[in-house]
Order: sequence, then structure tokens, then C-alpha cells
Amino acid sequence: MNRDFIAKHWYASVYEQFENQTYDVEFLLNVLKEQTDGAPQNILEAACGGGRICVPLAEAGHYVTGFDADEHMLLRCYRRMKGVKNIRCFSADATNSDWGTGFDVVVMAGNILINIESELDYAAAQVTFIKNAAKALRTSGHLYLDFDLHCDPAAFFNRLCESSYFSGTDDLGTSGRTVSYGSVYDPVTQICSGVSHWELTTNNGEQFILPTRWYKHIPTQTQVYDWLKDAGLTIERTYVNYSDEPIPEPITESTHRATIWARKE
Ligand SMILES: C[S@@+](CC[C@H](N)C(=O)[O-])C[C@H]1O[C@@H](n2cnc3c(N)ncnc32)[C@H](O)[C@@H]1O
Repeated sequence: MNRDFIAKHWYASVYEQFENQTYDVEFLLNVLKEQTDGAPQNILEAACGGGRICVPLAEAGHYVTGFDADEHMLLRCYRRMKGVKNIRCFSADATNSDWGTGFDVVVMAGNILINIESELDYAAAQVTFIKNAAKALRTSGHLYLDFDLHCDPAAFFNRLCESSYFSGTDDLGTSGRTVSYGSVYDPVTQICSGVSHWELTTNNGEQFILPTRWYKHIPTQTQVYDWLKDAGLTIERTYVNYSDEPIPEPITESTHRATIWARKE
């Protein structure tokens, strides 16, 4: 196995060990109950990762399709969906592939809007995700969008200090941790970037370090709402921090978890 395989396999595993909360999944299931007639929905999850969200949706009786660009994540999803009949998954890059059509609900959750990997300009990739979601919906179908909405990105992202976000051991016996040295936000481009590395030890004791760099475009509330409108999606309901409260307009506190339920016209 080469180092790239070992590192990506490890990351997919520790991502799931850490992102193992279920309240966002329960919240989504409750929104679906509240906003639809309770009948099983035909749902597409874009960037479904290891199936943390799409598999419970299928187990709750919905007809689910999921896709992701990362084969290591997807492999975990295939394992998790074993024995569940009403789900199928495929491998695709969301920015340059066909999402299908006619879905009742498209789910873009797990903060995918600011975790996109693509060759496109970041803001263009965000717009493409939203447009493709709208295209995949039937008329009067809904987009469920769940992401971190930052009111003051500079305060949140401008920090220089060492921290470790993920650590753990995968099923191949690779252990390690991610180490970040901080990030910087540019208020003109709205791009935030950071440097980090992964420190890994394979099951035969070989140690290696993988340098990583990341960058994201941090959209404003107005940008996201405009992108939805331009894609023909009308916001019907918003939720802040997985509560019944709507997202304040404009947002005032630094960071909110924003959940949006928007109908395709
Ligand atoms: C933060 S994870 C969220 C995964 C899953 N939705 C969850 O909440 O557990 C982001 C996922 O988006 C996928 N992703 C990022 N960019 C993508 C793209 N352009 N096309 C398809 N998947 C993408 C990654 O491979 C990763 O699995």
C-alpha cells in the first residue's frame, strides 16, 4: 500500500470516529417529519461521506441515493449500508457530474458547503452545488442545507496556534493525528486558508508526515440566500443551532449552525 492510500484510509476512519454525533441526523429526520406528510421521501444526499446521514435516512424508510468523490469515504458507506435495501450510492464529483433528477429532497449536510474539494474557484463550486441541487429536485421538492454560517469570519479564523483536530487508529492499524498551525482570513476575497500536517504511524511502525493545506470561501448570509434565490429555491423555514428558532436576519453572533429548508419553484 502506498502512503497516499494509507493516509486517506486513515482519515476516512478517524473522521467518522470524531463526527459520530447523531443530533444533526435526528434533527434532519424531525424536519422531514414536520415538513412533509410523513410519507417516505425520495432523497439524494450529495457528498454523503461514510454514510453517517444517508444510511439512517434509509433505515427510517426513505428511498435514498448518496454520492461522494472520496472512494475511501464511500467504501465505509457501502459497508454501513449492507443489508439496507432502499439505498444506493455512487462515486462522483458533485461539481462536474449529473446528480439525477426528480428527487423530493436533496440533502447537503455535514457542513459540506464549506468543505468542498474541487478544481473550481471555491465560490463558483458553492454556487454549482446549489444549482445542481436545484436541478436534481422535482418541482416543489426541497433542499435541506446544513452548514456553519459565520458573522465575523476574521474573529473565528484568524488564529495562529497549534491544535490537533482528529486523532486515532484505523482498522489497518494506522495511528496518527492531524496537527494544524492556524489559519488566516482575507476579508476581501472571503478566503480562509490554513496549514497543517498529518503525523502517521503504520501498523509496521513506519512513521511519516504528510503536509496538508486547505482553503475555503466563507460565504455571507446574503450570498447564500441570493444563491438559493438565483437557483429558483425559496426559503420556507430556517433553524438555528438545531433548535426551533429561525436564523436571525441579519445574524449577529459570530458563528451559527444554519439549517435551511427551501422549495424548488
Ligand atoms: C465534511 S464531510 C461530510 C460527509 C457527510 N455528509 C457527513 O456529514 O458525515 C465532506 C464530504 O464531502 C465530500 N466532498 C467534498 N467535495 C466533494 C465534491 N466536489 N464532490 C463530491 N463529494 C465531495 C468529501 O469527500 C467528504 O466525504
